[in-house]
Amino acid sequence: MVPVLFDLKPKDRIEELYDFRDELNKLLACYRDGRIALILGLRRMGKSSLLRSFLNSYNIPHILIDARRIILNEGGMSIRGFMNELSQSLTNFLQQRASFRDKLIGLLRNIDGISIGVQPLSISISWRRGRAVLTSLLEAVNRVAEDLNIKVVLAIDEVQELRALGLNIPMLLAYIYDNLGNIVAILTGSQVGMVYDTLRLNDPKSPLYGRAVVEVKLRRLSPDESLDFLRRGFEQYGVQVGDDVIREAASRLDGIIGWLTLFGWYYVHGNRDLNSIIDVAARQEIEELKSFLTKSRAENRYKVILRIVAEKPRRWSEIKRAVEMEEGVIVNDRNFTDLLRHLINMGILEKQGDAYKIADPVLEYGVRKYLR
Ligand SMILES: Nc1ncnc2c1ncn2[C@@H]1O[C@H](COP(=O)(O)OP(=O)(O)OP(=O)(O)O)[C@@H](O)[C@H]1O
Ligand SMILES: [Mg+2]
Repeated sequence: MVPVLFDLKPKDRIEELYDFRDELNKLLACYRDGRIALILGLRRMGKSSLLRSFLNSYNIPHILIDARRIILNEGGMSIRGFMNELSQSLTNFLQQRASFRDKLIGLLRNIDGISIGVQPLSISISWRRGRAVLTSLLEAVNRVAEDLNIKVVLAIDEVQELRALGLNIPMLLAYIYDNLGNIVAILTGSQVGMVYDTLRLNDPKSPLYGRAVVEVKLRRLSPDESLDFLRRGFEQYGVQVGDDVIREAASRLDGIIGWLTLFGWYYVHGNRDLNSIIDVAARQEIEELKSFLTKSRAENRYKVILRIVAEKPRRWSEIKRAVEMEEGVIVNDRNFTDLLRHLINMGILEKQGDAYKIADPVLEYGVRKYLR
């Protein structure tokens, strides 16, 4: 058996996925009959894996924009980065689809702002004409898709990151929804509230309001599934692992498939100490958290909130009191609630009944140990 479950890269074939059948079926139904799907879930819950496996295994024609890759390549989100990513992705798509390529290239030649190189095929898109080039491009893709009687997926991984572009994303998607019937949008996001804000799904004035959006919410694995995932992964490597070890890892990693994968990978590669594995992961998470916090004027207040909540789930009033004690001032209720809401929107905190807790057990550990 080829070991795949503990492979660290996002999975890109259904055969490599652990379960997720219901989620795949939902995506397939949306591809056939719907217009927009959202894949939502905390960090490391497998959004990218689900998206990529779906697109590749069902052989779905697609243009994939990975917003994190843009940030990584460019050091931040920018129109130029977005256009490069789109050009690259479109080129890949056409390289794999000869019938589409021949028809589309004819149309693209007439669009001001798009230039095409042949051998090797390359398409570059310039932002000279602003948003118009984007709509012309999508119209052309839609026209060819209609001709060929197929549907093309426009996939955007971590869509909330595109907010920084100043493009009107809800408007663009509403345009696709209303006018480009052979394009289906599939978007993912780890900051669930930010996705809602980006798409303005709850805003009656938003162009997307009231349109049918299929939500695929990724979930934690149940305790039994976590055990099963780890057992199967170890079996693929032919590594014998004691039940107590597996049980402890399953319980501490709280069903988050990415952490279970990371644990399995380290374990079969020689690091057998759960604490040190969590420690490595936590440090990475904390670096990312800090880079978000340092950009905020409320940095210190956020830190106090996170540290108190990391001790154990806490109620609103308890957290507020801790902040007031720390700062020696009375804090305005509304401002304080906004901070909590923002942390929830970012997927960092989660509400359980009346109490707030840190959603990710690895981050929780990291906050306790490293957030100074
Ligand atoms: N269904 C699955 N079966 C097996 N492994 C999975 C599955 N889903 C995710 N993984 C593994 O979990 C890790 C995280 O997956 P992935 O990158 O897809 O998650 P994500 O939600 O996109 O994460 P991020 O929030 O960091 O973008 C990867 O190592 C991946 O291989
Ligand atoms: Mg991802």
